[in-house]
Amino acid sequence: MRVLGLDVGTTAVKAIALSPDGDVLARAQRPYPLSMPRPGWAEQDPEDWWRASQEALAEVTDGDEVAGIGLSGQMHGLVALDGADRVIRPAILWNDQRTQAECDEIERRVGRARLIALTGNRALTGFTAPKLLWLARHEPDAYARIAHVLLPKDYVRLRLTGEHATDVADASGMLLLDVAAREWSDEVLEALEVPREWLATLHESVEGSGRTRDSGVVVAAGAGDQAAGALGVGVVQPGPLSIVLGTSGVVFASLDAFAADPDARVHAFCHAVPNRWSAMGVMLSAAGSLAWLRSVTGNAPYDELLAEAARWEPGADGLTFLPYLAGERTPHADPGARGSFTGLSLHHDRGALVRAVLEGVACGLRDCLDLVSALGSPDVPPTLGRISGGGARGELWTSIVASVLGLPLQRVAVEEGAAYGAALLGGVAGGVWADAAEAVATCVRPGATVEPVAAWIQPYRELALRYRALYPVISHHERPPA
Ligand code: XUL
Repeated sequence: MRVLGLDVGTTAVKAIALSPDGDVLARAQRPYPLSMPRPGWAEQDPEDWWRASQEALAEVTDGDEVAGIGLSGQMHGLVALDGADRVIRPAILWNDQRTQAECDEIERRVGRARLIALTGNRALTGFTAPKLLWLARHEPDAYARIAHVLLPKDYVRLRLTGEHATDVADASGMLLLDVAAREWSDEVLEALEVPREWLATLHESVEGSGRTRDSGVVVAAGAGDQAAGALGVGVVQPGPLSIVLGTSGVVFASLDAFAADPDARVHAFCHAVPNRWSAMGVMLSAAGSLAWLRSVTGNAPYDELLAEAARWEPGADGLTFLPYLAGERTPHADPGARGSFTGLSLHHDRGALVRAVLEGVACGLRDCLDLVSALGSPDVPPTLGRISGGGARGELWTSIVASVLGLPLQRVAVEEGAAYGAALLGGVAGGVWADAAEAVATCVRPGATVEPVAAWIQPYRELALRYRALYPVISHHERPPA
């Protein structure tokens, strides 16, 4: 017997099969193209997701009984369907930046403070609701045909089960959900003139949302990729945080109650566990910053770059990197933010640049951590992070992050990201585990822990002050008041 998890990502779909003990029995991945028809636009064909999902699911099924399937995926994308469930236009994705005017309009119509109180977030260009307003304004014929609006993984669910369904964790990223009530917000829907009938049936992530048409296997509602990924490293209840050092960087906490930052510098979403919410800080360029530096300095192997960085003392002798290469979400919700190196001198070499990038990204995670912890219980400060993502595989960067955050960082034995969390949700819906806590206790095995380096704590306190002082000055310099 096995459970399956499917993650409908931005570059590929990933499927895994787990045993009831949480061991990975099989994994499969199928890529698909990303279309950028104009600068700042990002679109995909939902038919590609479906084709890739079918192939990947077939590869991880081998005649063994499947107890349940869980879905996860890239959040915030807009899939618009007509009355016959035909896709009206290519899906507009989470990393599409075309909707700034619509974001301004949403904050005007609902009121910024009210929007944050209801949805836990400001109107951000990548979110779903601004895309609907964009469609109404720029493609009115397409807008007039809409009968259903789905998120990316929910389109795959529709093809698998015939159901128009979603989960509260992923729905939180649409900017249409009353996140505290875990229900669609009539107030926001009215203000944005979005008919409630367009929206999918809401479920908790662990609930069944339907059965596959071909074999009758239960499909769990599932979750957006960050909530599923957090579950996959064992973040169920307040306690360890999930820290992701991937292309983007994330600090994710599970909370007992809905809590929004008054300026929405972190996302407040429903967690993939009933009666739990999350606070999530997102950096747009974390390991992405290192990949950029590598690509512009001759594509040396990562090991070589990290060895050069290890020769520098903490603080890289006054060199500071701001990682806002693709704009930023946390702590500055600023798509126009830009990166920088400051404090360069003739004796700085490539290793110093790398060291500064590793440290600048760690400082960005520290900004996320401080905002996220402020929304948890003030009397229970975080004591452990569960770290995952490509950037966390080596020792140096993980030690730097642990020292800048002042937190021990623990890896998990099997790191499969969101697909793993999705499989856990599929197993709960299929009755393999009683609930998310039991699934995590059975399957997620903590691995080695990287401790902060005592001698680095003080230099990194000084670095964090230098780092924080730079953004206001540099952003003012780049965009002086008119
Ligand atoms: C979450 C977010 C990304 C996307 C794509 O807010 O934008 O995690 O879900 O992975």
